[in-house]
Amino acid sequence: MYMDKQTPVILTIDDESLIRHSYRLYLEDCGYKVQEAENGRVGLEMIHADLPDMVLVDLRMPEVDGLDVLQDVHENFPDLPIIVISGTGFVGDAVEAMNRGAWSYLLKPIEDFVNLRFAVEQAFEKARLIKENRSYRLELEEKVRRRTAALERSNQLLRDTRMQVILRLGKASEVRDKETGRHIIRVSCYTKILAKYLGFSEVDADNMALSSALHDVGKIGISDKILLKPGALTPGEWVQMKEHCQLGKELLDPLNTQDLREITGEAGRDLEGIVSDSDLLQMARVIAYSHHERWDGTGYPDGLKGENIPMPARIVTIVDIYDAVGSSRPYKSAFPEEECLQIIREASGNILDPVVVDAFFANLDKFQQVKEKWGD
Ligand SMILES: [Fe+2]
Ligand SMILES: [Fe+2]
Repeated sequence: MYMDKQTPVILTIDDESLIRHSYRLYLEDCGYKVQEAENGRVGLEMIHADLPDMVLVDLRMPEVDGLDVLQDVHENFPDLPIIVISGTGFVGDAVEAMNRGAWSYLLKPIEDFVNLRFAVEQAFEKARLIKENRSYRLELEEKVRRRTAALERSNQLLRDTRMQVILRLGKASEVRDKETGRHIIRVSCYTKILAKYLGFSEVDADNMALSSALHDVGKIGISDKILLKPGALTPGEWVQMKEHCQLGKELLDPLNTQDLREITGEAGRDLEGIVSDSDLLQMARVIAYSHHERWDGTGYPDGLKGENIPMPARIVTIVDIYDAVGSSRPYKSAFPEEECLQIIREASGNILDPVVVDAFFANLDKFQQVKEKWGD
């Protein structure tokens, strides 16, 4: 009888050749290819050498019995359908066989071979469903994996873009002030050092560092006449200059839906998700608004005192002062490092939070590395 590769192969393991023969005749008539093994040992060798599509196994056999075959198949080929055909008739045997992974249990001698055919077909159908299910699951997992990777890529792009936009906006504010973009980078690096040292999470420290680039963004709204004035400001000009904190805050306030509709022209779309405030912008707003507050309450715009000043603002205050006194500006040259440190020391407890000053000195080597690397 000609058998192509598609014909399912059924291995029968039984120590009685007559019984094996009867199975073979019947199953070949049903269209299957049948192999025979006279005991469990030979059967297992054949299974391991050339995996059949199904196994029919007797329980009581010399050398290696059916329970051992079940055990081995269950461990090594869990998807291989295996049907027990046994004459022992003990309930305990049937239970043990099922426990060891038998897919079905038939009593020997088989009175009506239709029952055998039914058990075989049922087991093949179950195997097919298991296979189909698995490939469906693998396909689904692969799809999820690809989508996740694509999402991760676009998230990264979004984060990079956000960082670029913020740093460039920060740069824009400093360019008008005749500072170099490096002031922004240094302030950012210093802020991260202190934020991490003072116990902020990695994410918050990153947000704070990025936000600190926008501390003077409100200067965009200050006139050149005041911003670039070479001499001292008059009291009236000072009032205007101090407004850069409020201007910065307003610039960083969340957009309302109406504004956004005007800009994007997307009338029908739900824009709530877009106008909602991000952690980053909240942090940036706090810093832009409060970085000129002083620990002793003599700062602006609100004259907040001590711990009423938000910590991110207290951090940016010290790094902004340290960087300003150590950098040259059109109207002054940079102070030597020792003098900068003296200024910070003397500002502790009046302009600056002593805790933040201590953190600064504890990380002095890191600050000086940044200064070295990003010097003007
Ligand atoms: Fe400022
Ligand atoms: Fe600054």
